[in-house]
Amino acid sequence: MDDVQIKEMVRARYGSIAATSEADCCAPSSCCGPQATVHDKARRMGYTEAELAAVPEGANLGLGCGNPQAIAAMQLGEVVVDLGSGAGFDCFLAARQVGDTGHVIGVDMTHEMLKKARDNAVSIRAGNIEFRLGELEHLPIADNTADVVISNCVINLVPDKEQVLREAFRVLKSGGRLAVSDVINIAPLPAELRADPALLCGCVAGAAPAERIEAWLSEAGFVDVRVTRNVEGREMVESWAYGRGVENYIASAMVEARKPERVYNVLFLCTGNSARSILAEVLIGHWGKGRFNGYSAGSFPKGAVHPLALEELERHHLSTTGLRSKSWNEFARPGAPVMDLVFTVCDQAAGEACPVWPGNPVTAHWGVPDPAAVDGTEGEQRKAFHVAYLALENRIKIFVALPIDRLDRLAIKQKVDEIGRLGACRNRSCHDFGC
Ligand SMILES: C[S@@+](CC[C@H](N)C(=O)[O-])C[C@H]1O[C@@H](n2cnc3c(N)ncnc32)[C@H](O)[C@@H]1O
Repeated sequence: MDDVQIKEMVRARYGSIAATSEADCCAPSSCCGPQATVHDKARRMGYTEAELAAVPEGANLGLGCGNPQAIAAMQLGEVVVDLGSGAGFDCFLAARQVGDTGHVIGVDMTHEMLKKARDNAVSIRAGNIEFRLGELEHLPIADNTADVVISNCVINLVPDKEQVLREAFRVLKSGGRLAVSDVINIAPLPAELRADPALLCGCVAGAAPAERIEAWLSEAGFVDVRVTRNVEGREMVESWAYGRGVENYIASAMVEARKPERVYNVLFLCTGNSARSILAEVLIGHWGKGRFNGYSAGSFPKGAVHPLALEELERHHLSTTGLRSKSWNEFARPGAPVMDLVFTVCDQAAGEACPVWPGNPVTAHWGVPDPAAVDGTEGEQRKAFHVAYLALENRIKIFVALPIDRLDRLAIKQKVDEIGRLGACRNRSCHDFGC
C-alpha cells in the first residue's frame, strides 16, 4: 500500500467513526475484550472529571492515547494548534486554559470529523476556537503562529511523520513548545501485524521508534527533545487488539520539544567569498536547521562562486540556489541583518581590518586551507574542496550542538575559539582524502 492509499484508508476509517460516533477504541473496529466507556478511558489518561464535564457532548470519541494537556502548561492568552483534532476534545479543553484572549486552531483532514467538531463548537458558543480542514503535512496555518502545538494519537497515522514535525516547527513561534501524546514502536512488529490495514488505521502499525522521533525533531530544529514512554498505558494499548500482543510492540508516550527562543545570524568571511565561506554559509543553514541563518561575504569578492564549491555542495545534495560572491560591506550597511557571530575562515581576512559590525557580534577565527589555491590535477583540486568541506562541516556540527541559548557571551566566545583551534582533519574520511 502506498502513502496515498494509507491516508485514504485513515480518512475513511475516521470519517466513519465521526459519522456513526462509533468510538470503541483507537484501534481496529474488531476490538474485543473488556470495553471501557470513553469517559473511563479519558479518566485513565489523566483527564479530570471537571475537564470531562466541560467539553461538549460527543467531543470525546475515546480516540486519544494520553493527555497532551498535562504537559502543555497552557497559559491565558496563548495560541494553541491541535494536530488531528478529531471531534475537538483537546481543543475544547485547551480553549478553557487559554481563555477569551487566547485562540485554539484544530486541524483535521477528515470532513466528517471537522463537521462534528464545528457543530460541537457552535453548541457551546465557543468564541476562541476554529477548526480548519487540512493535512498535517501542509498545515493551513501561517509561520510563527502558535505558542503550543498539541496532538493526541495522530502522528503515528501519517506516513510522512518527519514532514509533520517540520510543519509543527514552522507554525510555532520562537520559544514555542510541542506537547504530543502518541504511540511509539518499542520492538519490531511481526509481519502479520505490520501488514494488517486495520492496525495501520488503529494507531499500531504506523508507530515509529522513540529514537527516530527524537532524530526527526532535532533535524526539524527543535531543542530540549524528550520522548517519555508511558508504562501505565500498556493496558490501554492491549485493549486496542485484544489477544494479538500489540502491547509488546508499541507503547503510549509523551513527546516534548521546544522551538529555540531565537534564530542566530552567522556570517562567514573570507577574501574572495567564492569557496570556503560559501561552503560554510550553506553548511550552517543545513546543520543549524532553522536555528541559524548562514551568510557569507568577502573583503575582496571574486564576483563568482568557484564551480568546485558548487559541485561539492551538490554532491552532498545541498541547495546552491541563490549563492553569490559578495562584499562584506553589504553586511555593514544600515538595514543589513544584524550578525550574532562572525567567523573568518581564511587567514588573510582574519588579518584585515573588518567593517564595524552592527550588534557587536562574537567573533572567532576558523582558518581552513584554501582549496582554490591547490595547483594540481582536477582530481587533486576536487579533493582539496572535499577536505575543506569536511573541515568546515566538522566545526559547524560541533558549533550547532552547543546549548547556545543558555550560554552567556563570554562562554560562547570561549567555545567558538576552542572550535577554531580544532584540527581541520579529525575524521577518517578526511584522512582518506589525504590531509
Ligand atoms: C486517532 S484520531 C485522534 C483524534 C483526536 N486527536 C482525539 O484525541 O480525539 C486521529 C485523527 O487524526 C486525523 N488525521 C490522521 N491523519 C491526518 C493527516 N495526515 N492530516 C490531518 N488529519 C489527520 C484523523 O482524521 C482523525 O480525526
